[in-house]
Amino acid sequence: MTRHRLAFAIMMLGLAAVASADDVEIDAFTGLKKTGDWEIVRNNCIACHSTKLITHQRGDADQWLDMIRWMQKKQNLWQFDAETEQRIVTYLAENYPPAEDRRRAAIPADLMPPNPYAKKDDAE
Ligand code: HEC
Repeated sequence: MTRHRLAFAIMMLGLAAVASADDVEIDAFTGLKKTGDWEIVRNNCIACHSTKLITHQRGDADQWLDMIRWMQKKQNLWQFDAETEQRIVTYLAENYPPAEDRRRAAIPADLMPPNPYAKKDDAE
């Protein structure tokens, strides 16, 4: 087998593994699950960072909305009309819901070391 064929075979195995995880097709460009309102998420969520930040994250609707609010407040994410926001949050909560093995609970504030970069307006 040539090197190219081997690489291709390994790639196809990888794709098959991704596709069979829960029978939802994965968009090759964004890595998002192609279901429901995924295109709204693609249109609004890929401008600033890798979609891996999204697909590796887990949360229920409230947690996803909190992340959106944080990005709107601190990272210049634009505002959404209510329906668009609802669709985005629903897609995220349905496709990337909380999972025990995915993320540990946040470290309690009193156990955190002091943040040397903290600015005054971060203390909220
Ligand atoms: C205007 C720019 C911008 C857009 C658009 C944007 N984000 Fe973000 N987002 C950020 C920045 C900046 C960070 C912090 C990146 C880092 O830590 O490296 C971030 C971080 C994240 C994180 C990681 C949060 C955490 O707690 O670790 C997630 C998840 C996320 N974004 C999801 C989304 C989703 C979903 C959308 C679409 C609704 C979106 N982002 C659109 C700027 C943006």
